[in-house]
Amino acid sequence: MWKYRYQQYGGPDVLERVEVTDALSPQAGEVLVRVQAVGVNPIDWKLARGDYRLLTGFRPDRTPGSDFAGIIEQVGAGVQRFSEGQRVFGMLPLLRSAGSYASHVCARVEHIALVPDAISITDAAAMPLAALTAFRALFLHGRIAPGADVLINGASGGVGSFALQLADIGRARVSSVSSERNRTFCRELGAVHALDYAAHDPLQEGSLYDFIFDIAGTFRYKRAIDCLRNHGILVTVQPGIVALLRSVMPRRDGKRYHLEIVRPDGRRLNRIAEHAQAGRLKAPVEHVYPMDQVEQAWRRSMGGHVQGKLVLLV
Ligand SMILES: NC(=O)c1ccc[n+]([C@@H]2O[C@H](COP(=O)([O-])OP(=O)(O)OC[C@H]3O[C@@H](n4cnc5c(N)ncnc54)[C@H](OP(=O)(O)O)[C@@H]3O)[C@@H](O)[C@H]2O)c1
Repeated sequence: MWKYRYQQYGGPDVLERVEVTDALSPQAGEVLVRVQAVGVNPIDWKLARGDYRLLTGFRPDRTPGSDFAGIIEQVGAGVQRFSEGQRVFGMLPLLRSAGSYASHVCARVEHIALVPDAISITDAAAMPLAALTAFRALFLHGRIAPGADVLINGASGGVGSFALQLADIGRARVSSVSSERNRTFCRELGAVHALDYAAHDPLQEGSLYDFIFDIAGTFRYKRAIDCLRNHGILVTVQPGIVALLRSVMPRRDGKRYHLEIVRPDGRRLNRIAEHAQAGRLKAPVEHVYPMDQVEQAWRRSMGGHVQGKLVLLV
């Protein structure tokens, strides 16, 4: 067994691969998974950079990674829904110090789902965190209805590319915001209007939406709220004290603001898997790197212009 870890905060070069001498074994309610592929998310390198060190401590000893897909090698006591040899995928809790950049992970059964037959292990690894973020924002908090006007900012990245497809599945009318380079990509994933952020202001006067998903975090709060219809909702995924306060403060105008912090959720991951199995939801993977090129993958992700997802193949 092996894992990547970092013991100081910094860029991709703080990562080191180490052998693990103590064999992992699953606790009650857990499965031990032999990891075959890992999805890369910005939170992986943000945590390593120390962006959330108030939560992760000042002397890190962490293995990065939330997303994984692989084969169950062992089941813990009381596990009945899963068995050895099954292909599963899932997301580990964001702040867990034993992450998924490893040969094996132990995961709770309520955090995983079976990989649909129709999709590859790399596509499965690309999905959990980003697709769950989009799913929760659109359907749990947004409760979007058919015909709703939805605006997605940062639509060509990991979260955005799933949000576009899920909004389309929900029969919303979607406007995407991306670079010019990615407008066609956004249209292919379901955008009716594909706006280039350098050329268009999606929040210009007169624009009205039922749901605004500011994934990129570049919208000014007041301008975005002004572009919501009554009972509309603005969702951000950029954590911060101001966003947190705004999301708990009641508004008088009936509009809502929500800070989404994704969490593992096997039940909703199953819904995502059903869409993938039916061919309605695809994992747009820009590039699959071998695991030993994790530094290159992180540098690409840190550039902020990934189209879809990056995956590490074990
Ligand atoms: N709170 C949570 O639970 C949660 C969950 C998931 C992600 N996040 C956060 O959400 C953000 C996005 O995550 P991700 O996985 O989607 O990242 P990603 O895959 O790296 O996507 C970044 C995307 O942002 C777009 N972008 C760059 N500048 C932009 C601008 N000025 N306006 C609009 N779009 C712009 C890029 O599109 P172009 O290449 O076309 O410029 C790129 O496709 C990250 O900050 C991440 O940490 C939070």
